[in-house]
Amino acid sequence: MSEIKSLSYFVVQTRSLESWRRYAEDVLGMMTADGPSGELYIKMDERPFRILIEEGSSDVYQASGWELASEADFSSMLERLDKKGVTYELGSTQLCESRGVQAVAQVVDPVGNRHELTWGHISDCLPFASPQGVPRFVTGNMGLGHTVLPAVDFDTCLEFYCDVLGFRHSDIFNFRPDPAAPPTRIHFMHCGNARHHSLAIAEYDVPSKCVHVMVEVENMTEVGRAHDRREAHNVPLSATLGQHLNDRMTSFYMKTPSGFDLEYGCGGLQVDWDQHSVFEFSRVSIWGHDFGVGQRGDS
Ligand SMILES: [Fe+2]
Repeated sequence: MSEIKSLSYFVVQTRSLESWRRYAEDVLGMMTADGPSGELYIKMDERPFRILIEEGSSDVYQASGWELASEADFSSMLERLDKKGVTYELGSTQLCESRGVQAVAQVVDPVGNRHELTWGHISDCLPFASPQGVPRFVTGNMGLGHTVLPAVDFDTCLEFYCDVLGFRHSDIFNFRPDPAAPPTRIHFMHCGNARHHSLAIAEYDVPSKCVHVMVEVENMTEVGRAHDRREAHNVPLSATLGQHLNDRMTSFYMKTPSGFDLEYGCGGLQVDWDQHSVFEFSRVSIWGHDFGVGQRGDS
């Protein structure tokens, strides 16, 4: 079965390209450049971009870009979409140029999350040189990180991601703020690489259409330096420093200019999937990760 290799990029719509340019360079420590159609490219490795910002009338997470290994895999993914009765739209030449790929197919999940399936990225392989001295982000064949998407119609979405797009479970979390009420489900999923999860879906909605995205640096020093930059630029903290139980990532969460959160961390688990069994974990973090900090506004 053809499989998605990795999360290769994500697309955001914003009312202010400039706010994202400043956030990317000053806080994230990434490079920026103008794209071919007036979009903003945010670069974090040797590829021309991993985050693509488009100017528009609202601030919202627009789409997740997923890479397939070859044209043959891309074609068999489209065949599977046809077979499952899922409609998609092949991208125009202009869209392919913007995304820097040979071909792109746009598909929407049952609750409106947009995805772009691609193959054959185009790269000048220019080195990454962080304006903040970040040595490197952990990307390569594991993709840029992970994305967590809202999925109110949870069972239908689960079927779409597992049976249609071919994601497989890493582990599951049933959030129980009220023990008497049914849990809120968050399922973590992997694709064709060792990263613990490239996608998670959460059984609730968020106005920004993304719960959070994660980028990974090499060590705690770089997480701490990013935390200092966040403070220096008055970017609101969404969760304090902590370590997740499932992917072992040590990270903090902060707001992006488009309203969703970004997790900046290190030490994420890389898994040998042949040795892995899916399990349910009953607490989000081993230590830290106080998500109340954003609500209290005491960051
Ligand atoms: Fe995360």
